[in-house]
Amino acid sequence: MMRFLFVIIVILSTAIYGENPYVASPNAYKDFWEESIKNPEKFWDEQAKMIPWMAPYQTVWEKPESTNDAFVGKWFVKGKLNAASVCVDRFVPKHGQETALIWVCEEDSRSRIYTYKDLSIAVNQAANLLKAQDVKKGDRVGIWMPMVPELLITQLACAKIGAVAVVCFSGFSACNAEERFTDVQCKVLVTADGGRRRGKVFPLRPELSSAFLQSDFLKKVITCNNCSLAFSITTKDVPWNIGSMNEICDPEPMDSEDPLFLLYTSGSTGKPKGIVHTTGGYVVYALTTMKYVWGIQGLLFPHKEEREVWFSTADIGWIAGHSYITYAPLALGCVVLMYDGVVTYPTPERFFSLIDQYKVSHLYTSPTLLRQLASCGDTIPSKFTFDSLRVLGSVGEPILPETWQWYYEKMGKGRCPIVDTYWQTETGGYLISPIAGVTNLRPGSCCFPFLTINPKILRENGEEASTGEKGFLCIAAPWPGMMRGVYKDQNKFLTTYLEKFPGFYYTGDEAYKDADGYIWIVGRADDVIKVCGHRLGTAEIEAAISTFPGVVESAVIAVPDAIKGNDIVAFIVAKESLSPTDIKQHIHHMFGPIGVPKDIVFVPDLPKTRSGKIVRRILRNLYLGEQIGDTSALANPEIMEHLLEISRPV
Ligand code: WT7
Repeated sequence: MMRFLFVIIVILSTAIYGENPYVASPNAYKDFWEESIKNPEKFWDEQAKMIPWMAPYQTVWEKPESTNDAFVGKWFVKGKLNAASVCVDRFVPKHGQETALIWVCEEDSRSRIYTYKDLSIAVNQAANLLKAQDVKKGDRVGIWMPMVPELLITQLACAKIGAVAVVCFSGFSACNAEERFTDVQCKVLVTADGGRRRGKVFPLRPELSSAFLQSDFLKKVITCNNCSLAFSITTKDVPWNIGSMNEICDPEPMDSEDPLFLLYTSGSTGKPKGIVHTTGGYVVYALTTMKYVWGIQGLLFPHKEEREVWFSTADIGWIAGHSYITYAPLALGCVVLMYDGVVTYPTPERFFSLIDQYKVSHLYTSPTLLRQLASCGDTIPSKFTFDSLRVLGSVGEPILPETWQWYYEKMGKGRCPIVDTYWQTETGGYLISPIAGVTNLRPGSCCFPFLTINPKILRENGEEASTGEKGFLCIAAPWPGMMRGVYKDQNKFLTTYLEKFPGFYYTGDEAYKDADGYIWIVGRADDVIKVCGHRLGTAEIEAAISTFPGVVESAVIAVPDAIKGNDIVAFIVAKESLSPTDIKQHIHHMFGPIGVPKDIVFVPDLPKTRSGKIVRRILRNLYLGEQIGDTSALANPEIMEHLLEISRPV
């Protein structure tokens, strides 16, 4: 009898928790993937039916005549659509009263709920507020806001009128934000007076410099009152006062290839790059990846009476929040839970209780948060049933098998699949990921490529690496959601991603494939570092350090950290004796808190090659007490003696 009951429970639980409505089995997915590689256009033509096109496209994919490079092609050519209509308005006639957004704030009393109709009206009013400031199709609108609903509303308001939304993470400093907004020459900036983190208010609008406010390109600054902070009002200031605006706004018909947003991201060298994403290809890609990978059923598909609730702990300031908080979940008609503040504040219990309280079915978070939660012990999570959870996800950095197991057992209670999704700002959506309820999982591996994605692991010379051999992760054919360029610097697009391995998109990551074809991401192959899953460029932090008086030069490295994944250490050559605390404060001011190194080491010189490139590997090995390795290529080998003398913190 007991055995019989057990079998019933297992069958029931796979039916409820393990099912994916779109793919039947691992073999079915394998066949589906192979078919999609042979005929990607057929696959994307099928998926594009999810979009209410304002004018049909003529070709799914058009390879450009002017260049042989497939990655510069166009998708859904000559099709017209409006992303705000796709994400919100289309649900209003039949499902207007259904919940679209549950916004929960650290300060619980502020939390709000929007139905699809409420959201549609707010987006139209915000769009009309932008129009009243003379924002037109193609104009860039800067957005620097905490995780308030107005952030998501502004993104969609831009989409509604065809303006290009440029969000900058609210954890970046004003200097950093201004640099990005200056690069895009935003006509209007939408911001808030401040935001909330760990029970404290942090300022945004009051931090903007008068030099930036006086820039010619910047016509207006719209400020949403979130914390009642005071700031000195200029002639460019406009309050976020959408309540008085017209509730109707016609959607601008956008070409598939028109940019939807730009998002700045860090690279190996120099300043962050403005990654360009398009309207048609990006939206189709974000929507399709979310549908299959999570097996989620929003209003777009026959759905259960009890709606599925999507909760991502990402910030909209990064691509994870763009694709999988704003655009894809709403385009699918999901209930989106958006959290403003730190989910583990005042204690980790807050995070766990949100899942039960809001009946979260799909949870998406970072290994950093999971490591932090796991380190607090199992007493708190064991108080909760997490009955509503169906699928768990991880993103942003490699997840160690022990963290994976903790997630699977303590949060998923052994019944929810985990999708370890590998992708990048540049790729728009998932490249490699399990398919929930279908893929046989291996903890720590992001498993198999998404439909139409053809990854190859290459050696430096371009040959394919053999099984188990670490190499450079590249993609052999384009997909609709990939970046179309670097803003104002198309050459950078070609040199960074397309030239290292001709005919391939180069991700910048190292990976290997095991004997069963599972892909394991090793980490970045360049000078990009991931701290708490946030993507930072060593060059940007070094640039912030270099403006501190007395600094000659610096080199920033990443060292392993049990919670954050990596932490930052800065090696500094200084003219005089400098205070590490002052330097840290300076980086906080110039770059933002996430760029502040845990340690500063003063050195007489930096190890360099003859061409002047800093050899960070030596600094890292030195700091970690590892074998220094070959130093024969150094232009200044004599400094090794000095470097070795420096006592390292253990
Ligand atoms: C880099 C891209 C948060 C949205 C995606 C991040 C690393 C991303 C994984 C994963 C191992 C991962 C890679 C990649 N990365 N996902 N599942 N396993 N590493 O976008 O901020 O542009 O960062 O994040 O190194 O290149 P991003």
